[in-house]
Amino acid sequence: MKLLSRSRRAVARLPIRPRRMNFAFQGFENSRYWFDNDPVLTHFMNVLSVTFPDGERFFVDAVRAFRDRVDDPQRQKDISGFIGQEAMHSLEHKAFNDLVAGHGDGYDALVDEALTVTQRLLAGARKHLSAERQLAATAGLEHITAILADVILRRADMVEKMDPAVRPLWVWHAIEETEHKAVAFDLYQDVENGYWKRQRAFLYGTAYLTAFSTYFTWQFLKHDGVHRQPLVLAKGLWKMFGYKGVVSQAIPSWFQYLRPGFHPWQDDNSELADALRATLPEPAVSAVA
Ligand SMILES: [Fe+2]
Ligand SMILES: [Fe+2]
Repeated sequence: MKLLSRSRRAVARLPIRPRRMNFAFQGFENSRYWFDNDPVLTHFMNVLSVTFPDGERFFVDAVRAFRDRVDDPQRQKDISGFIGQEAMHSLEHKAFNDLVAGHGDGYDALVDEALTVTQRLLAGARKHLSAERQLAATAGLEHITAILADVILRRADMVEKMDPAVRPLWVWHAIEETEHKAVAFDLYQDVENGYWKRQRAFLYGTAYLTAFSTYFTWQFLKHDGVHRQPLVLAKGLWKMFGYKGVVSQAIPSWFQYLRPGFHPWQDDNSELADALRATLPEPAVSAVA
């Protein structure tokens, strides 16, 4: 980990550029277990994806509510980039989720149920949390997104195991989450800079996301009868939580957020994002919002 200055308002290490990709997802309809042919890994990622369209709209609104506090033109540009990128993620993941819903009998009902719960949770947050708490939650959840994105950036072997029909979606999303990983955090520091409030929102955000993704991943696995296949289950869980697992690899970075002097760019993974960007298909539209 390369340590940068302790400045909480470090300028983004990477330009934040929204790209409209219009992924075709060709052949995805035939690839039910698209991640390493593994039901556990696949359903975990599918369930995360269900939260993205509405979750990312929530993030955008939380940031937009305070953008007038920022005078610096570069940071205004970064905020525009963040909003544009999250809007594109919502669109592409909506298309992905629709295809997941068609992957098996009964998947559509499960996707719908997960979507409804996501929408209810977010509606509750919008109703009961102040604009500052919503921004703190956004900064915390963006950290979780950024550390999962970092796993994708670092683990070419894992990315290789994704079906080529959807691999560019996850790589593109991981790159853009990395590009804008400090935007909500920096804005929160401008608006409130409250250590305990920031941690509380982070811990609540982590707890909700963990409970949600565990519950719905299990529902999908049960639907597929995987709960009666202990070996398949154990293998999948090992890939998630075992040595160098998708989740276990992100855990040390999760703890970084608890440090009082934390800033997302203290972990400078910009070179990894640069390297992977070259592997992406050309965007349909590429412009700063
Ligand atoms: Fe995103
Ligand atoms: Fe994001």
